[in-house]
Amino acid sequence: MNGAATVDGAVRVPGDKSISHRALILGTLIRGRSYIGNLSPAADVAATAQVLRDCGGSVRPFGDGRVSLDGAGPGISLSSPSDALDCANSGTTMRLVSGALAAHDLIATLDGDHSLQRRPMERVAAPLRAMGAEVTTRDGHAPMQVHGTAAPLGVVHHLKVASAQVKSAILLAGLNAQGPTVIHEPLPTRDHTERLLRACAADLEADGESVTLRPTRLEPFGLRVPGDISSAAFFMALAAARPRWRVRCLGIGLNPGRTGILEVLTAMGARVEVEEGPMAADVEPQGDVVVTGAPLHGVTLDAAMVPRCIDEIPVIAVVATQAEGRTEIRGAAELRNKESDRVAQIVAGLRILGVSVEERPDGLTIEGPARLRPGRLDAAGDHRLAMAWAVAASLVDPAEEACVIDGADVVAVSYPGFFEDLAALTS
Ligand code: S3P
Repeated sequence: MNGAATVDGAVRVPGDKSISHRALILGTLIRGRSYIGNLSPAADVAATAQVLRDCGGSVRPFGDGRVSLDGAGPGISLSSPSDALDCANSGTTMRLVSGALAAHDLIATLDGDHSLQRRPMERVAAPLRAMGAEVTTRDGHAPMQVHGTAAPLGVVHHLKVASAQVKSAILLAGLNAQGPTVIHEPLPTRDHTERLLRACAADLEADGESVTLRPTRLEPFGLRVPGDISSAAFFMALAAARPRWRVRCLGIGLNPGRTGILEVLTAMGARVEVEEGPMAADVEPQGDVVVTGAPLHGVTLDAAMVPRCIDEIPVIAVVATQAEGRTEIRGAAELRNKESDRVAQIVAGLRILGVSVEERPDGLTIEGPARLRPGRLDAAGDHRLAMAWAVAASLVDPAEEACVIDGADVVAVSYPGFFEDLAALTS
């Protein structure tokens, strides 16, 4: 990939991956027919749809990202699959689906690719056991076997790590529990599951520190999924990096648990304009975001900010190379548990690009600004790294040699059309 001469234009990124997983699962569980529009085309989301079908769920696409779902009700919608469930590369599939399975009388094994098999699963297995399911892991990792119960127990659970996936798994298992389910979070995380449940008439209270769910009858829903801010983030970060570069991201989700990237780019000095539109089906805030580049300066990201931009940290690190001064990313040890060890991979890749960077157990420090030199970068089987390296490659002087990104097709995990959309903005 060669460096970009300019970045200018509008882009409509595909539907949000996090919301798409949740809508598929809830539509499968809730009694009646639910509808989804603008479902994410991500391979991760396709894995969730297939896993649900393998457990008897009715997930029917009818073109253009539209899907209809027919559920029988929490506790009766799912049944034992005949084979191990293939969650592919998707941690969200494995963790959220395990919660739904735990509240059904069935036995299922959840497995995935090598990357998923190295990610921690005890964090979800332990609370599901407390709710009455039998859950076994291989030394805390996939394959994970779930022997569920249609009469799970309500629990009070204190999350040790801030994780929307674990929170959501417990909520899904709590839909048909014998009593209330209460979850305490160390830091607020994305609340897509809570919002959709409320739209389905769930009895759910949340105050940013804890969530209480009392089982009640749920209504089916219709939801058009907003664009994925985590996909748009790559273009916003790229536009931010050079004065006068500009991108308009149309119709992206603006859930406060996800908008950390907008605050980080603003704090670095970029111009970020948010034009809120109507709420997506009264569930999720969404709108257009225009990012215009400017001279940037380094910032400090602390532990409270990290969950609000957890998936954007690879590209924040890339844009930080163009900022004057030091950028510190702290309290981000969770990055080591993602699709790759993102701290180690970001540090290795930035060094190839000639950036002065220091690795710490819980994050990294970047000294900017750096004139990026072309090199050969490794996606390391991680979609967000592949896209962050594409942004870095676009920031190399176009007169220099091209960068090579090994394994770049992994972008399909969240954003199959990424390279086409990037080319349209940079040409
Ligand atoms: C997600 C939550 C985050 C995020 C992941 C998607 C979700 O993971 O990194 O890409 O949809 O709930 P954790 O909950 O493990 O932090």
